[in-house]
Amino acid sequence: MSHRFEDVASVRTMLAEAKYLADEGIAGIVYLADRLGKPIIVEGPAGTGKTELAKCVAEVTGARLIRLQCYEGLDESKALYEWNYKKQLLRIQTEADSDWSEIEDDLFSEEFLLARPLLEAIRAEDPVVLLVDEVDRLEIETEALLLEILSEYQVSIPELGTVVATQVPLVFLTSNATRELSEALKRRCLYLYIDYPDLERERQIVESKVEGINENLADQVARIVRSVRQLDLKKHPSVSETLDWARTLVLLGIDKVDDQTATETVNILLKYRTDIDKAVKEFADNPDELVPEGV
Ligand SMILES: Nc1ncnc2c1ncn2[C@@H]1O[C@H](COP(=O)(O)OP(=O)(O)OP(=O)(O)O)[C@@H](O)[C@H]1O
Ligand SMILES: [Mg+2]
Repeated sequence: MSHRFEDVASVRTMLAEAKYLADEGIAGIVYLADRLGKPIIVEGPAGTGKTELAKCVAEVTGARLIRLQCYEGLDESKALYEWNYKKQLLRIQTEADSDWSEIEDDLFSEEFLLARPLLEAIRAEDPVVLLVDEVDRLEIETEALLLEILSEYQVSIPELGTVVATQVPLVFLTSNATRELSEALKRRCLYLYIDYPDLERERQIVESKVEGINENLADQVARIVRSVRQLDLKKHPSVSETLDWARTLVLLGIDKVDDQTATETVNILLKYRTDIDKAVKEFADNPDELVPEGV
C-alpha cells in the first residue's frame, strides 16, 4: 500500500505549505496513523486547530474531505445511510401489477440508497480524509455506529450486504472532551491531544496567517496571549482568537501594543465580561510586561 507521507519531517513541511504549523507530536501521530491505517482521536481545548488539522491533511495529500458534523440526536440515517422512501413508494406505485417479491428485491438496491458521510467515505474510490467532527456531542450509544467503520473500514447494510472500503481512509475524530469517549472507540484509535501552541509556534502561526504583520508585533501578540492564558479565566483565548486579535491590530495600524491598545482591543481575545475585567486589570498593573525587552 502506498503511503501519504515519507517521514515525520515531511508531514510538517507538507502541512506548513497549507499554513498549518504542526509540532513534533502532531506530525508524529499523523505519520503513524497513515502507516498503521488507524484513525486519530484529536482532543483539546476549543480553537487549537483540531478541525483545521484534518482539513489541511486532506488538502496537502490531495484527498477529498468528507465531514460528518456530530450533534446530539444524530442517527444512523444521517451518519451512515438511509433508504429513499419517496423513490421506493413511487416504484411500488408504478409497478403495482408486478410480482411483489421482484419489486421487493429491487427496492433495496443501490438505486434507492442514500449514502451519508460515513458510507460515502467507505465507498469512495478516490483518496479521502474522513473528519468526524465534535464526536463528543454524540450520545454515547450513537458512538457504536462508528465502531465497525473504524476497525474494519466496512459498513454492513442488512438488505444489501457489507460494503468494504477499497482503500483505508485517514480518519480524524475531534473532541472538546465535554465527556469521555467510550473505551471501545478509544481502543480503535490513536490519540492526539492538541494543547495551546507554545510561544514560538504561536508566533509563527501569527506570522504565517496574518498578512502585513511585522515580526515584532507577532512576537508581542504571542507573548501577551500567553500571559493572558495564565490568568484564571472562564475561557482562555484560542488560536483563532489570537489570529483575530493580530488582524485587528494590523487593521488599526498598531505596531506596538501598550496597555491602552491592549485594553481597547481585548474584547477580540476574550468574550466574557469577567475575563475582560481580569485582563484589563493585569494590563494596568503590569504595563511593562506588555512591551518585552528589545521591542
Ligand atoms: N497549528 C496551527 N497552524 C495554523 N493555524 C492554526 C493552528 N492551530 C490553529 N490554527 C488556526 O486556528 C483556527 C481554529 O482552528 P480549528 O477550527 O481547527 O479549532 P478546533 O480545535 O477545531 O476548535 P473547536 O474545538 O472550537 O472546533 C483555524 O482556523 C486556524 O486558522
Ligand atoms: Mg473544530
